Amino acid sequence: MSGAIYAGSFDPITNGHVSIINSGLVAFDRIIVAVLTNTKKSPLFSVAERIEMLEDAVGGDPRVEIDRFDQGLLVDYARKKGVRVVLRGLRAVGDFEHELQMANMNRHLDEGVETVFLMANDFFYVSSSLVKEAASLGGNLSGIVPELVEKKLRAKFGQ
Ligand code: PNS
Repeated sequence: MSGAIYAGSFDPITNGHVSIINSGLVAFDRIIVAVLTNTKKSPLFSVAERIEMLEDAVGGDPRVEIDRFDQGLLVDYARKKGVRVVLRGLRAVGDFEHELQMANMNRHLDEGVETVFLMANDFFYVSSSLVKEAASLGGNLSGIVPELVEKKLRAKFGQ
């Protein structure tokens, strides 16, 4: 069975993430979606809320496992899960430099773990941070986040 780790903050999951997971399932038999809990960014949603939104959006597929990733290196977590591929989405040229650095740092840390990039396609302009900004200002989120995420964002911002 081929598998990949798709790790991130998912604060919150967007339809861009959903699209990468669905594309990833064309290439891999299973995907472990790992929520990074000790992110340097201060998250809007708790880990439990982020996992609930992930479960709702992609947890119905038996090929998708949702897990949390509390500490340590991503490559070590991947090894622990028996997976040798890190899956990342690329939206625009702006993502490239940071992603290239991370992929090469991960290769330096463990040559046996490879990073595979997938293109974000229709959702190239969607990021969790822009979604939160739009939500905080009452913007239209339809089609760019799952319904539960939209509901939870509206509740967070008292709308
Ligand atoms: O959603 P994000 O914030 O872009 O995800 C970034 C993530 C989780 C992939 C990255 O921060 C990460 O891999 N963190 C784990 C720590 C680690 O392994 N660092 C060295 C690799 S560059």
